Amino acid sequence: MKREIKKAVRFLNQGGLVCFPTETVYGLGARLFDEQALQKIFKVKNRPMDNPLIVHIADLKELKMLTQNFPRAAFKLIEKFWPGPLTLVCKRSALAPALASAGLKTVAIRMPNHRTALELIRALGEPIAAPSANISGRPSSTRYQDVVRELGNKVNMVLKGEQSELGLESTVLDITRVPFRILRPGFVTLEKLKKVLPNICLAAKGKNKKVLSPGVKHQHYKPNCKVVLVEPQYWEKTLEQWQNQKTRLGVFSYSKKIPNFKNIVFNKMFHGNKFEMAKQLYSYFYDAEKAKVQTLLVETIEQKGIGLAFMDRLKRASA
Ligand code: TXA
Ligand code: MG
Repeated sequence: MKREIKKAVRFLNQGGLVCFPTETVYGLGARLFDEQALQKIFKVKNRPMDNPLIVHIADLKELKMLTQNFPRAAFKLIEKFWPGPLTLVCKRSALAPALASAGLKTVAIRMPNHRTALELIRALGEPIAAPSANISGRPSSTRYQDVVRELGNKVNMVLKGEQSELGLESTVLDITRVPFRILRPGFVTLEKLKKVLPNICLAAKGKNKKVLSPGVKHQHYKPNCKVVLVEPQYWEKTLEQWQNQKTRLGVFSYSKKIPNFKNIVFNKMFHGNKFEMAKQLYSYFYDAEKAKVQTLLVETIEQKGIGLAFMDRLKRASA
C-alpha cells in the first residue's frame, strides 16, 4: 500500500485526480490548493459548478487553517464523531479556496475514518477536496470495481480498498449558526447528534427556503432503471401488479418475502437489517444495472435513525 500511496501523492502533486476509499463511499480527490485540479473534478463528474466539495483532513490543524469563528460547542461533536462520517459546514477562512466551496462563504470539512484515506492525506501533507466518486446524478460508488467502471478512464488512479463499510454518505451539519442544522442526513443520525448537543435539528424544507446545501437540489443517486418504492403494507398487492408486466424486475426487500415471479431477474433480501441495506444499496444498484433490471421495486423503511438517510437517498433515486 505504501507504494500505491506514494504513486497517488505523485499524481496529486502533478495536478491529477485520485479516487480513494473511505468508510462512507469512495471519493474523487484533488489537492485542495490546486485550482486547476479542482476544476477537473467538476468537469470529470459533470458536476454543477454551484455544488461545493467536501474537504478531507487528517489533522485538526487543517481545520483551524481553513475556518474562522469556529464554534466551541462543535468541538464536542469532533471529540465524539471524528474521524468519522460527519461533515461540518464552517465559516471559511481566507486560506480555503473559494472554488472548492462553489463561492460560498462556508467550507465543508470532514476527517474520514479510513486508514487509506488518512494515510493519503498525511502523505500529501495537505487537505484533499473530494466529492463522491461517481458521475453527477449516478449512485455513489462503494466498491473499487464500481469506481473503476464509472471513472477509471477519467482519473489518474483509483486506490484500491475494500467495500465501504457504511455505504451511505456522511451527515452534513451546518454549524455556522445556532441551532446547528442537518443539511444532509447520514450515518451520524439526528438522534446521536442530539445526545451530544440537544438542540441540533433538521434543516427545514420550506417552499421559499433558500437552498442551504446546494447538492440537495440536484438529481442524485439514480441507477439506470426505474426505481419504485413500495411501502410494506402494500407489498404483496403491488408485487402482484408487476407479476405479468413485460419488464425485467429487480426486488429489494427489507422484511418481506420475495415471490417467485418469472420476470424477477435480480433480488436481494435484507432480513430486517438496516445497516446491511444501507451498506449495500449503491452496490446493488450497480449490480441491478448489470442484470439489466428495468424496474426495481424497493421496500421502504421507517425514517428513523439510519432509516432517515437511507430513505433520503432512496427517494431521490426514485424521483
Ligand atoms: O461521505 C461523504 O461525505 C463522501 C466521502 C467521499 O467523504 N463525500 C460526499 O461528497 O458525499 P458529495 O460531494 O457527493 O456531497 C457533498 C455534499 C453535497 O450535498 C454538497 O452540496 C454539500 O455536501 N456541501 C459541500 N460543501 C458545502 C457547503 N459549504 N455548504 C453546504 N453544503 C455543502
Ligand atoms: Mg455525491
